[in-house]
Amino acid sequence: MEIVFATANPHKLEEINEISKGSGIKFILPPAGFNPIENGATFEENSLIKAKAANKLSGKMSLADDSGLCVESLNGAPGLYSARYAGTQAEKISKLLEEMKDKTNRKAKFVCSMTLLDESGNILCVKTGECHGEIAHKAAGCGGFGYDPIFLVEGAGGKTMAEMTEHEKNEISHRGRALRMILEFLSKNNAL
Ligand code: IMP
Repeated sequence: MEIVFATANPHKLEEINEISKGSGIKFILPPAGFNPIENGATFEENSLIKAKAANKLSGKMSLADDSGLCVESLNGAPGLYSARYAGTQAEKISKLLEEMKDKTNRKAKFVCSMTLLDESGNILCVKTGECHGEIAHKAAGCGGFGYDPIFLVEGAGGKTMAEMTEHEKNEISHRGRALRMILEFLSKNNAL
């Protein structure tokens, strides 16, 4: 079974297909022209906007995620603006480390909301996964993407997300948790 995954980020598509390996689902990219305006007020709203855009273009069952990094002592920033926080990913990491320079509370979480639509664009399921941890004092590791090198995963013995194997990250990540809930929904509803 094929489901369109509403992203232009090949790393995310790779992660999603890896997490759902063995489920019988293959996630595919949306057709050309996928460029939704993410102007929702929450991760859930943005995931609905992206899922609708992918469904409209493809006419297929579509899944979208919207995710970001929320830092407690920055009142949840960069949050919804994680992708637009600064220019390159290296610049985003430098900016965040600079803003965290004097902070003792370094608690943070990755959040991922997912919305699944049927072929006609009706909402089938909405789920949110979280992964808790802390912002490191410096970047470490070269796996994953985004803020992974400065995110110390709770209970991982001081490893950043970028120091984990793909498999380790998928087991505990916000995206892995949200997607497993979506797969469970599909399985319970005999869609698989
Ligand atoms: P989205 O594509 O609109 O969901 O943007 C989310 C942004 O949050 C990404 O561009 C990354 O900067 C950040 N982000 C989301 N998930 C992850 C992750 O698993 N690791 C690192 N950064 C992430």
